Amino acid sequence: MRVGVIGGGLMGSGIAEVCARSGVDVTVVEVDEARCENSQAAIARSLDRGVRGGHVSEDDRAAALERLAFATSLDDIEGADVAIEAIVEDEALKREMFRRLDAVLPDALFLASNTSSVPIMKLGAVTSQPHKVIGLHFFNPVPVLPLVEIVHSIMTADETAARAREFAEGTLGKECIDSQDRAGFVVNALLVPYLLSAIRMYESGFASREDIDRGMVLGCAHPMGPLRLSDLIGLDTLLAVSESLHEEFRDPASVSPALLNRMVEAGLLGRKTGRGFYEYSTN
Ligand code: CAA
Ligand code: NAD
Repeated sequence: MRVGVIGGGLMGSGIAEVCARSGVDVTVVEVDEARCENSQAAIARSLDRGVRGGHVSEDDRAAALERLAFATSLDDIEGADVAIEAIVEDEALKREMFRRLDAVLPDALFLASNTSSVPIMKLGAVTSQPHKVIGLHFFNPVPVLPLVEIVHSIMTADETAARAREFAEGTLGKECIDSQDRAGFVVNALLVPYLLSAIRMYESGFASREDIDRGMVLGCAHPMGPLRLSDLIGLDTLLAVSESLHEEFRDPASVSPALLNRMVEAGLLGRKTGRGFYEYSTN
């Protein structure tokens, strides 16, 4: 099986790693050589962590790296069985990408998006094969978290959904839940208003960032607090998800706090840029 992963950032790199570890040949498509190198290095570092933690053998690490290719043109995924789009959370860019994927992959088994919140029908609608367009929503970090949300649009064929589930569960060993095609799907519709509330609480001076995070870790057994989790997700992605949720539901809980807007404008995007609510070393 051959998979094209479009976008080799945080999520695309994780998805590519999991595919390669599952015996799938993967081509990651990025915008330039430097981004391809970043993705390749991120996957190698993550596999090293997997080896150190005893989750990946040395042989499997080497085999996974062999199955990975990197490209800057979509032409390089011509003939792939499956495409998984994981570019930035920008509806217009994603629609343009699905237009191009439709032309390059007329015979794919399915065309998936890892979008956090853009309704899948908006992406299917720009293709000539909306019955083959589906949401496969992985969770960050992809090699560690088992969940994939399967998002059917009103045009997704049952056969596509069955193939996508077989791929996620059978090939990649993930666990799936089904979601209707509404902004945010199941998990982000619940998670993102909580993260935005935590940012509002911090912005208002109600509690310190450390106490907000420690409160949820020590009091509710979350693996990390909401401000640190926002940094992990990426504040640009969080802002984009809040905008999609607000556009769909008009719920005041999904309005982005001014502090989040300012931080994104300042390029303080969280862990991936070295600074968000906290500071991080850059590798
Ligand atoms: N392959 C296999 N295993 C790996 C690995 C890899 N590439 N990289 C790390 N691991 C393993 C480690 O070996 C470790 O395993 P053990 O527990 O067996 O020792 C485990 O994964 C955890 O790794 P670390 O010890 O490095 O890190 P940690 O314990 O500090 O946990 C964390 C870090 C996994 C991020 C954890 O804090 C966590 O789960 N946080 C919450 C993350 C979360 O909520 N994500 C969802 C975000 S929302 C989203 O994704 C949707 C969206 O659209 C925005
Ligand atoms: P990111 O910013 O880390 O990476 C996005 C990548 O897309 C960048 O490397 C960029 O160069 C690349 N890109 C942009 N336009 C491209 C194009 N035309 N062709 C090829 N590559 C292109 O973002 P991310 O966190 O990996 O998010 C990617 C997608 O996954 C988004 O839709 C996001 O909502 C979703 N998602 C994110 C998370 C998360 O926690 N960050 C979790 C689940 C889903």
